[in-house]
Amino acid sequence: MTKVIHSIDEMKKIIKELKKDNKKIGFVPTMGYLHEGHESLIKCSTSENDITVVSIFVNPIQFGKSEDLDRYPRDLERDRQICEKNGVDYIFNPSYEEMYPEGYKTYVEVEEITKNLCGAFREGHFRGVTTVVTKLFNIINPDNAYFGKKDFQQLKVIQQMVKDLNMDVNVIGCPLIREKDGLALSSRNKYLSKEERESALSLSKSLFLAKQLFESGETDPQTIKKKMEELILSYPLVREIQYIEIVDSETLKPKEKVEKGDTIALAVYVGNTRLIDNIQL
Ligand code: PAJ
Repeated sequence: MTKVIHSIDEMKKIIKELKKDNKKIGFVPTMGYLHEGHESLIKCSTSENDITVVSIFVNPIQFGKSEDLDRYPRDLERDRQICEKNGVDYIFNPSYEEMYPEGYKTYVEVEEITKNLCGAFREGHFRGVTTVVTKLFNIINPDNAYFGKKDFQQLKVIQQMVKDLNMDVNVIGCPLIREKDGLALSSRNKYLSKEERESALSLSKSLFLAKQLFESGETDPQTIKKKMEELILSYPLVREIQYIEIVDSETLKPKEKVEKGDTIALAVYVGNTRLIDNIQL
């Protein structure tokens, strides 16, 4: 039976008891509206830990003013059933006031690797992510925490934070899960109309093309990016390519010559929906 906990004090009390019994705790932070991408993280956690906690909290401080905070999909009962089916022990679902009471003043910021890619277009986003994840880690005190490679930059930023702040948690990166036709699973796919979903395939299609080009010998990032751009813009409902970058997977710095192991990441607006995707070569 999955228990839903709304209070920080109650969650901490439960964790304290579990720790007394030497239980290994796995933690999957999410913003809810769970899909098979989230489920794959949950499955990793339940297979490697005694207890799995999933947090569901749409964290306002990681959304920009003109972003989709108000329309972000929410359905706790649906999420609870998915958690139940996957053997999750606890859902931690605090309110905004519980997490950020009046007088809240503290933020966590990772420098440099938060400034390019998504960081260049979503000011304050990663500061919001690292702050909430720090708070969640302090509340749940997990042995292992699971993050998806779908949010490749987020995973790097969290790993950097955990290392720099000597946090006692093992951060595990899990594979990016796609639909059969290649579309990366995302809670935001719910925004897409049938026609928009068709155009959303441009992201993964362009990444697969880039991989093919690289595998047949192309190492010039400009050439690869140009061909990706052409493919993406051939889809009717693509409104804007926000960025396409080919970066070193560790430093996240742009590459002059593409090499095996590099990551290609992109953000594209399909209609009003901003989608991201990436591939490691
Ligand atoms: P959310 O977008 O709900 O994602 C929660 C976790 O699921 C993240 O680690 C994300 O990378 C992973 N995930 C999403 N789609 C995936 C896919 N297709 N394949 C594999 N993993 C996938 O990321 C957040 O929430 C928030 O920023 C959070 C970390 C919870 C902080 O608020």
